[in-house]
Amino acid sequence: MNNLNINAKIGIFSYNELNSEEKLLIDNAKEATSRSYSPYSEFSVGAAVRLSGGEIVTGSNQENVAYPSGLCAERTAIFYANSQHPGRAVEALAVAAFTKGDFTENPVSPCGACRQVILETELRYRQAVKIYLYGKSKIYVIDGIKDLLPLAFDSL
Ligand code: THU
Repeated sequence: MNNLNINAKIGIFSYNELNSEEKLLIDNAKEATSRSYSPYSEFSVGAAVRLSGGEIVTGSNQENVAYPSGLCAERTAIFYANSQHPGRAVEALAVAAFTKGDFTENPVSPCGACRQVILETELRYRQAVKIYLYGKSKIYVIDGIKDLLPLAFDSL
């Protein structure tokens, strides 16, 4: 028997170690938490995507009393970006979460469904999406979805 060992590279940064473009994207994700509709979980998630050309589009989680009908912040942002700017590549994504009166101490990581959508975005635009996961004590920086979704579905 052999093993397939999978490694994920995740950089750990403080806010001040990031450049101004990265800080701006994170600031937008944090601000987007204020537009969350999350009366059921009381967990407000914000996402910001930077498109080729530099434009930033944000989204937030939108819940529903029929729970599975709600949508995460990441997919809200990506689907909105694709529907408003279908030809523009998604270069980077930042995610932040606010609950119980403050931003989370630790980074919030995208759910499996959002990872699958980020993968599709990379394939569609043929470029990696750089991912910033914000937490008050540390920020995870990931070069692309392969580090969050190893062994992804591939129909070939
Ligand atoms: N949620 C997101 O929007 N993004 C994530 O990465 C994790 C979870 C939302 C879904 C739900 O509205 C709430 O957070 C609690 O799970």
